[in-house]
Amino acid sequence: MERLKVAVLGAGGLVAQRLQQRLAHHPWFDLAAVAGSARFLGQPLSGVPWVLEEKRPALPDLTVLDVNDPAVVERLIDEGVRVAFSALPAAEARHLEPMWAQAGISVFSNASAHRRVEGIPLVIPEINAEALQPPRGGVLRHACATNCTLLPLVFPLAAIHHAFGLEAYTMRSEQALSGGGHPYMTRALNEGSVDADIPGEAEKTGAEFRHVLDWDGSSHLTCQRIMRADGHHVFVEATLSQPTDENALRGELTKWSMRQRLHDLPSAPSQPLMVEDNVDVNAHLFADGSAYPTQPDPAVDLKAGMAVVVGNIEMPDPTTVRFQAFNHNTLRGAAGGVVLLAELAYAMELMPSIGPHP
Ligand SMILES: NC(=O)c1ccc[n+]([C@@H]2O[C@H](COP(=O)([O-])OP(=O)(O)OC[C@H]3O[C@@H](n4cnc5c(N)ncnc54)[C@H](OP(=O)(O)O)[C@@H]3O)[C@@H](O)[C@H]2O)c1
Repeated sequence: MERLKVAVLGAGGLVAQRLQQRLAHHPWFDLAAVAGSARFLGQPLSGVPWVLEEKRPALPDLTVLDVNDPAVVERLIDEGVRVAFSALPAAEARHLEPMWAQAGISVFSNASAHRRVEGIPLVIPEINAEALQPPRGGVLRHACATNCTLLPLVFPLAAIHHAFGLEAYTMRSEQALSGGGHPYMTRALNEGSVDADIPGEAEKTGAEFRHVLDWDGSSHLTCQRIMRADGHHVFVEATLSQPTDENALRGELTKWSMRQRLHDLPSAPSQPLMVEDNVDVNAHLFADGSAYPTQPDPAVDLKAGMAVVVGNIEMPDPTTVRFQAFNHNTLRGAAGGVVLLAELAYAMELMPSIGPHP
């Protein structure tokens, strides 16, 4: 398989650097350009401060380009770049992603600006891969990954909905500081405290849940920020259409996870959902579908941090289940998730051709 030349939109942000990290040794994608804001424009990528905990991987010798400049997009197309991963803030993504996509570079986005927009697929590979289609056939020009909080919520509930029917759910989240971006996280860590409120998060998560699962029941969500660097934890109570017991429910979660494996994609965990007795936010951050690596290097281990863990399952009555679930918000919930989405598009032959631009 020929490696596809890709760009990252964003130079020094948390998700932008997670993307650079995951693309450093990617078997299918070749990091060929980084385009960002005025902050690091014209600087060598090696000079952009590295904000992730792991050491900076060996990255290609690149200069940060201007993400706003249509001439940059044209030049990259001439150089064979066909895909861009966007880690832009929503306000910039709103106008910049269409500019890149319309010029001929397919954009895979972590930003919220184009989620649930007609003609732009919003997809989680294990949940609604069939929605990953260009609106008029041919090449896929623009697709979005979901909100990070949705992953630990939707995996267990998709399995439950499939087996027993989901009538309603409530969710309370405890979300990590890194979900707010690097300056936000640094400020909170320096101050030793954080405002628990995350404006708009509950509405966004609930709407994306309905969209990807094509579900129309009743829900109530509350999202809170807490003082933890990484990892989003959800506490869920769900009402089922058909009665069951805890053993049968655990069995269905496990079966769903086995059925939804995406063996052939480099960033896919060995199974998407790991069923445990209890969620442990210290031990389970880098769940990879078969184990819990402690200090993996996401630049070489593309599976670590890509699985969701579910546990603390209780059934107070035959149609009510309570559980907790947890996953890594900047890996599965952001950069890892959007690279997995692009891998799926590549495997589905929806990517632009590698040859000269028409
Ligand atoms: N953090 C998460 O867990 C998470 C999860 C899912 C989705 N997301 C989404 O991913 C995006 C990036 O989030 P983040 O956590 O990486 O935030 P961050 O650490 O604050 O980084 C902000 C990014 O936005 C870019 N940027 C800022 N101002 C810009 C401008 N005027 N023009 C162009 N680029 C600009 C920066 O690029 P330069 O470095 O070039 O300045 C930087 O890469 C956001 O849309 C966020 O909602 C984040």
